[in-house]
Amino acid sequence: MDSKLIKSGLAALGALLSVSGAQAAMDQDAIAERLAPVGQVCLASEDCGSASAPAASSSDDGGAADGEGIYSNVCSVCHDAGVAGAPVHGDEADWAERTEKGFETLLDHAINGFNGMPARGGNPDLDDDDMHAAVVYMVEPVMDVSEEESAAADDSDDSAADTD
Ligand code: HEC
Repeated sequence: MDSKLIKSGLAALGALLSVSGAQAAMDQDAIAERLAPVGQVCLASEDCGSASAPAASSSDDGGAADGEGIYSNVCSVCHDAGVAGAPVHGDEADWAERTEKGFETLLDHAINGFNGMPARGGNPDLDDDDMHAAVVYMVEPVMDVSEEESAAADDSDDSAADTD
């Protein structure tokens, strides 16, 4: 009687142990499975870190600003359709007289504002490198941007030496 009880007790314990072992393994799989969709949703949604990503990446790259991204986020609002007389991106006629001013002047007007063109496209968070990249992206279809101009402005040493 006693030994029977002990035996069945041990059997029950063994069954319990093996069940809990299997359950632990299953739990890990289940946890991994539950985590996966969260990661995917995060990547696809807008407020899961993507808002801060461009700022982080542009500072990490040391000024390798994303001209196309900035254009589509900020400048395209006016420059896609020509709002308020804005020259349309890629429209040669709209840009003909402007490109004659030269890249430096266009960049200066984009940074500091020019008539209906708000300074920095109305976004003070854009630094000079960002504006440079955005203007290069904007005028590339309508003018030859020289390598010197398309590289980030790195002539600050020269201009310091040039000041009279
Ligand atoms: C609120 C509308 C608006 C936004 C946003 C905007 N622009 Fe403009 N932009 C204008 C208008 C209007 C003009 C034409 C100004 C004029 O010639 O009187 C213009 C002109 C320009 C010119 C030509 C300047 C010249 O000397 O002819 C450049 C370059 C330019 N914008 C770059 C940009 C860039 C780069 C951005 C984004 C960072 C941007 N713009 C965002 C409205 C806008």
